Amino acid sequence: MFKHLTTAVLCFALSVTTTISSAADPIVIKFSHVVAENTPKGQMANKFKELVETRLGDRVKVEIYPNSQLFGDNKVLEAMLLGDVQMAAPSLSKFSRYTKKLALYDLPFLFEDMEAVDRFQQSPAGEKLLKSVERKGLVGLGYLHNGMKQLSASNKLRSPNDARGQKFRIMSSDVLEEQFKAVSAMPLKKPFSEVFTLLQTRAIDGQENTWSNIYSKKFFEVQPYITESNHGLLDYMVVTSKEFWSELPADTRGELEQALSEAISHGNEVAAQKSVSDRQKITDSRRSEIVALTAAERAQWVEAMKPVWKKFEKKIGKDLIDAAYASNQ
Ligand code: SIN
Repeated sequence: MFKHLTTAVLCFALSVTTTISSAADPIVIKFSHVVAENTPKGQMANKFKELVETRLGDRVKVEIYPNSQLFGDNKVLEAMLLGDVQMAAPSLSKFSRYTKKLALYDLPFLFEDMEAVDRFQQSPAGEKLLKSVERKGLVGLGYLHNGMKQLSASNKLRSPNDARGQKFRIMSSDVLEEQFKAVSAMPLKKPFSEVFTLLQTRAIDGQENTWSNIYSKKFFEVQPYITESNHGLLDYMVVTSKEFWSELPADTRGELEQALSEAISHGNEVAAQKSVSDRQKITDSRRSEIVALTAAERAQWVEAMKPVWKKFEKKIGKDLIDAAYASNQ
């Protein structure tokens, strides 16, 4: 009897100690991403860490893992649902296993500029899309910009005919696959971490990306031409898991939301600056020629790629496509 009682008392004492010590431990947020630190997303993540640790340092610790150090494109969302990472900001093109709706953002020539993107994302339809991943256990915390995509290649791309038969790396998106098929090119879905080597070894001929990714990952050093096509959008959704987010104390969650909103504004400013400054650095390097399209040449790309919209109208929803397109006015 005495022995049983001692064991029970010991167990109780142990569990109290565990609870107390875990209550004192800070919450750890592992933030995993695939780009360099000197990019809009890298700078946003670092700003988030700085703000959170200044304001909540004793309660929350943020660990940033850039450059696919912890998880690459294909694994990060699975890892999030398993609780191995708490935050990430994959490009909107990488959510196809979680929702079909975000494919909207991949439609070629949908948005004329980043102001149109902002107008749409801030509209009720755009905000609703942040919730499209909830059914799969994810919480969309906000959009973050990178910018418009350009086409880099080993040969000069002026007209869609120049892309015929060329291999292009794409993100894991069916819309992007159809976009390149529309110009008789060969799209290959590959993780971001492999792009430089694929280009360098000439295993592929080209890829599409923003000025900041082309610059920070040195694609311009192994691609002699970059066509300034502004044909598509590279934007991100900052996400967490429903399980992690809902278990946070409400006041901590509120502080994290505030810090994230400020970090996203900072990231968006960096995106706007880098779309100009990284383009200029590439020009100055003379490693890659920037090919400017005439209005007539650009119109050929639009004509070749725009039929892709129709193919995805059912999956995405015509109303949504119309609403996004209307944000150009
Ligand atoms: C990123 O900006 O997160 C990567 C984009 C890509 O995979 O091309």
